[in-house]
Amino acid sequence: MLAGKHILLIIGGGIAAYKSLDLIRRLQDQGARVTPVLTKAGEEFVTPLSVSALAGSEVHRDLFDLTKEAEMGHIQLSRSADLLVVAPATADLMAKMANGHANDLASTLLLATDTPVLLAPAMNVRMWEHPATQRNLATLLQDGVSCVGPNEGAMACGEYGPGRMAEVPEIISAVAARLSDGPLRGKRVLVTSGPTHEPIDPVRYIANRSSGAQGTALARALTALGAEVVFITGPASVAPPAGVEVVAVETAQEMSEAVDAALPADAAVFAAAVADWRVTSASDRKLKKSKDGLPVMEFAENPDILKRVAHMTKGRPALVVGFAAETDDVVENATAKRLRKGCDWIVANDVSPSTGIMGGSENAVVLISDDGAEEWPRMGKDAVARQIAERVAAALA
Ligand code: CTP
Repeated sequence: MLAGKHILLIIGGGIAAYKSLDLIRRLQDQGARVTPVLTKAGEEFVTPLSVSALAGSEVHRDLFDLTKEAEMGHIQLSRSADLLVVAPATADLMAKMANGHANDLASTLLLATDTPVLLAPAMNVRMWEHPATQRNLATLLQDGVSCVGPNEGAMACGEYGPGRMAEVPEIISAVAARLSDGPLRGKRVLVTSGPTHEPIDPVRYIANRSSGAQGTALARALTALGAEVVFITGPASVAPPAGVEVVAVETAQEMSEAVDAALPADAAVFAAAVADWRVTSASDRKLKKSKDGLPVMEFAENPDILKRVAHMTKGRPALVVGFAAETDDVVENATAKRLRKGCDWIVANDVSPSTGIMGGSENAVVLISDDGAEEWPRMGKDAVARQIAERVAAALA
């Protein structure tokens, strides 16, 4: 996905610097070349040796290194990359960038560059929420700098809130989106995928035959067109795609909460086969056979995630796409389902066992929209995904 791309990675001083070591590896896995720069504060958290060993190249640390000035120079260093990534981006680095300081190698590179810059901020929650940092952030965004995270969560300092550096897959996804020149560049798309598992007891659950293949192919196709994809997946049997932010869930309720946390988005594609019911009488101990007869299970209806999001009055994605898995009267049922759910499009497919579609590698879909039903020929799930991704790009253009 990042083949041939050159990333200049500036590692600032923060506890999250340890994640940047993994970031180097994951960027390389995607085909990127990484040139690392370590700030003085960064050196307090990770050693130059570990950074250069992982990057497979020298780590740049000093502004006034005359030999290097002669060989390459900081101006050239900052411009030879396709993207500058600052991870972790500390409050101090952001302040320097927003005000145009150039008093060390990192800030000089950031000021001297004409290459796009992506920040992954990480700091204490009060520092992040401080008006000065928010002011700096607004200035930087205004200057065309991109930002991924920070996430909300428990912090190393013991406080809770926004300030944790984005996870490595999220940063990779943001890097890919920033470097893409595809039509979905700059668009955030949420994809649900896979089955959900609804527990009966600690060892048993209700599931369905969804493999997650179509949702995974979709996430990959959307990423290839430059979208920043949040991929919310139940326990699927195919591996999640690379370069997307993966949120793994088990139940429908967890999926519903994850969708809320991932919004806002420009488009949302609901490819998951969500269980309609959950067992309200689920036991936290294994059910045992009993002479008293068979167990009796009580059910409750799960939240309808697609319907809820499609009916949002505030923050509804501009495009909401549902899937309809049907076994009879596919077009008729899916047309009614689109109206019932309130989504813009329904991608309907016949999942009768004879079609081999559920769990298989091919799909035959009908795209239902305001313009009516459009039948597509049977093709591989990757090809279906590419067609849908192109339609999404056209709709968001
Ligand atoms: N869906 C959802 N939340 C649910 C159920 C379904 O978000 N609790 C979404 C699926 O991801 C899919 C669409 O709704 O995009 C249709 O799913 P499907 O299972 O075909 O429809 P149902 O709502 O279960 O309708 P029916 O039982 O009538 O087939």
